[in-house]
Order: sequence, then structure tokens, then C-alpha cells
Amino acid sequence: MGTPHSRTVAEGIAFMNLIDGQPADALSGERIDVLCPSDGKVFASIPASGTADVDRAVKVAHKAFEDGPWSRMPAVERGRCLTRLSQLVEKHGDELAALESRDTGKPARQGKADVTATMRYYEFYGGAGDKIHGDTIPFLDGYTALTLREPHGVVAGIIPWNYPMQILARVAGAALAMGNTLVVKPAEDASLTTIRIAQLALEAGIPSGVFNVITGYGRDAGAALSAHPLVDYVTFTGSPPTGTAIQQAAAVNNRGVTMELGGKSPQIVFADADLDAALPILVNAIIQNGGQTCSAGSRVLVERPVYKRIAEGLAERFSKLVAGPHDADLDLGALINARQRDRVAGMVAAAREAGVQVLAEGSIAPDAPAGGFYQAPVLFGSVDPLATIAQEEVFGPVLTVFPFDDEADAIRLANGTDFGLVAGVWTKDGARQHRVAKKVRAGQVFVNGYGAGGGIELPFGGFKKSGHGREKGFEALYDMSATKTIVFNHG
Ligand code: NAI
Ligand code: MG
Repeated sequence: MGTPHSRTVAEGIAFMNLIDGQPADALSGERIDVLCPSDGKVFASIPASGTADVDRAVKVAHKAFEDGPWSRMPAVERGRCLTRLSQLVEKHGDELAALESRDTGKPARQGKADVTATMRYYEFYGGAGDKIHGDTIPFLDGYTALTLREPHGVVAGIIPWNYPMQILARVAGAALAMGNTLVVKPAEDASLTTIRIAQLALEAGIPSGVFNVITGYGRDAGAALSAHPLVDYVTFTGSPPTGTAIQQAAAVNNRGVTMELGGKSPQIVFADADLDAALPILVNAIIQNGGQTCSAGSRVLVERPVYKRIAEGLAERFSKLVAGPHDADLDLGALINARQRDRVAGMVAAAREAGVQVLAEGSIAPDAPAGGFYQAPVLFGSVDPLATIAQEEVFGPVLTVFPFDDEADAIRLANGTDFGLVAGVWTKDGARQHRVAKKVRAGQVFVNGYGAGGGIELPFGGFKKSGHGREKGFEALYDMSATKTIVFNHG
């Protein structure tokens, strides 16, 4: 893991910011310990960047945008750089997967899956940027009107800790394909793969100053980045309150934003569904990444005649789930940090105290290190749809299941939270599939399946409190650019 962009010191590996293609410490010299959630031990450190570091990085990105060549390069050439980056991610896949798992506590196979998705993002955007074009518009006699898609300029990417490498890739892939330059602020709990990917971007031929990384706390580096007057567009994935703070900061400069703010996504199971096919997918949709997934299917709504069967099937599976260290590759790993573990444990305790029925609990592997941030999975049954545990995002391995009476009731309950990110609909009735998919307020709806984790090609984003703007697929290329209209008067 030792690279020219880090040094080994007594506390482990000292990772660096990457500004203008060069490794850089925070100007203050302050550092943040990097812990492995599986045992709670420090194994590295990252710079605790502040306002002055952010200012430097943004000015570099601004200059790179203004001077070129990146912003003026033919789209196909930018695409080739991204394709090479995808190949480098593949080449370094084992290292990146291991680093991601160690930094976040996610099971080894999830780290590998994240590498595969990351490769796909850079591959997809490597091929997509030169397929985006404007229009010619029928206008008045004597005029020709056309549109161009132009980059915003400097894009600030504020990245969360749950899928850092993947979320970076969906931001960087789309932003870079359109000719923007980047300043990325990864989460203080999971910055390491972002630093490595930015180094690989240099190796792939993306010029110095185009892809900058500054690590640090949200309240310092993140807040300064969102408010910087030379930032032209901000994209964020994370919690709704932080999203509000970032939008307020960006509003001072009237800048555009993309906000992906999580969910409380329903899975609607009708009595005619293939229940055996649904059960393992319902479990995986909440257990993947320990439930720390924006698109986690955290509410299962079941038509009353099959409620008992589904509740029992989920309970049987939940009772067998085991959390443990990332390298043991069990059903789930540790949660990201002590604060998140305490938050999840607190929400579980409050629900129990409020009398919500516990149908089943998983366990923590007996040999899991005591210092790790483990939370056993919990399945709550017959939950009041308005209960806190059924309304608020837990971001942990906690599932609520409750019955509904008919299609109208299912839609009302599915839409009965502040969120609207993803939904699942399970039924064999084709007409009902279409009706329900259209009436559910969610940015993605899966029918007889659930798979927002992959699907690089599929536009993704929320309604309501889940945010606005769309990432992934071609749609992201529109968010990461602006339309310019040009009108020629030629008489
Ligand atoms: P957060 O939303 O505060 O952190 C995400 C990112 O925002 C990090 O990079 C952080 O440094 C940055 N940030 C924090 N405050 C900022 C500010 N004032 N200005 C600019 N950037 C700032 O999330 P946190 O506190 O780590 O987790 C709390 C809850 O957020 C979780 O329990 C979960 O419910 C939700 N969450 C949702 C995610 C999603 O994928 N939708 C991802 C991470 C957290
Ligand atoms: Mg970490």
C-alpha cells in the first residue's frame, strides 16, 4: 500500500491529499486517524484539511478548467482516459478491494463487488461522453438555432463512507466525461480508495489539476468546499441535514446541486408473488453492506393472506445472519464507526421500549474483535407504519415488516414516508405491476427483483426528502453539464 503519495510513520500509513497532481499535507499539518471498523484499531492517517487547503485545491481545479486542455479536449479523448482508468482499477482490483474493506469494515466480497462496479462506471462514462450532443431547433425564418452541452466548470464532490469507491466513480465518471474539473472531499471515515483512484487517474492520462482530492472533516473541509465561490456545481450523497447545509452554502453563490439523501424504501409483496424467489432478495436488500445503503429495502409491506409466511421466512433467515470481521466475509461486517453503531443500537432500543415486536435477531461472530463496531441484525414485525422505526432511515441491519389489505392500501403505505428513493414490487399480475410501479413515488422501481446497487446504466435519484437530480446512466451527463443556446441571424 505504500505509494509515492503516502509515507509510512509510526502510526501506520500517512495518506496525502492530491492537489495539482502532487501529494500534499494539510497546511496546518493536522491529521485524522484512520480506523478499521472490524477491530477499531488505527492503521493509517489522512490530512485534516481546512479552508486554506480547500481554497488551494479549488483554485487549481479552476485554473485547470480555464486553461485546458481537459475542458477543450475532444470528448472521445477524455473518454479514452476514463477507459484507461477503468483498466487500471481492474489491474489494481485486489488492492483496492482490500483497502476498501479494511477502511469500511465491509465483507471482502462486497469490496470486490465495489471494484467491479467502479470499473463499470469508468468504462460506461468512457464510452458515453461523446454520445451526448445538442439539438438544432426550428426557429424563425432567417435564423438557425442550436444547443451545446457545456461543462459547469469546477465540480465539488462530497462523498459518503458507505460505498466510497462506487459513489466517487459515479460522480467522477460523469463529471469528467463532460469536461468538468473536480475537487473531491471523501468522508473522514473512508477516504483511502478515493486517494488511490485519483493517483490512478493521473496514470490514466487525466492531466494534473483536473482530479483533486482533499480529505478532512465535513464541518471544516466539506463546508468550505460547498461555499467556495469558484466551485460551479456541487454533488452530494449523504444525510438529509447535511444535504440541507450544503445546499444553503451553495446557495450563497447560487450554484446548482445534485442531492442524493437516502431513503426508507418499501418492498411491496402481493399474495400472488413468487414468495420463495422474493425472500432471499428481501433479506439481501437490507443486509448488504450492513444496511448502510441509501437504497436499502428497509420496509417490507406484505398482503395480509401471506403476511405470516413472509414474516416467518424472514425470521428464519434473520436468525441465521452473522456479523463479523471483513476478512471473515460473513453476512455482514461491522458498521462504519462507534457513532453509527450507537445510533443504530439506540434506534433498536427505542423501538423495543416502544413495544415493537422483535421477530428475530442475528448474531455477532464469537471471535469478532471486541473493539469492532458490530450490530446484530434485527427484524421487527407487525410494525405500525407510522412508528419511528418504520419512518426514519436507520442505516443499519434493521428491517421492519407489516401487513396491508389491498392495492390502494399498499400504495398509501409505500408512499407514507418523507422519502422516495427506491421501491420493490412483487406480483405476477402484469397490469398490477404497471399500476403500482407508476403510483409509487420513487426514483427507481424494481418489479420482481431489487438491485439498485449495480445498474450503472440506470438513472438513480430521489423524490421528496430523498433529494433531487439524477446520477448514473446517461442522465448524469445532463446533470453534469449545462445547455447553451446559440442563435444565428443570417437573414
Ligand atoms: P453526513 O451526511 O454528515 O456525511 C457525508 C459526507 O458529508 C461526509 O463526506 C462528510 O464529511 C460530509 N459533511 C458532513 N457535514 C458537512 C457539512 N456541513 N458541509 C459539507 N460536507 C459535510 O453523514 P454521517 O454523519 O456520516 O452519517 C449520519 C447519517 O447519514 C447516517 O446514519 C445515514 O442515515 C445517513 N447517510 C446516508 C448516506 C447515503 O448514502 N444516503 C451515506 C452516509 C450517511
Ligand atoms: Mg475507516
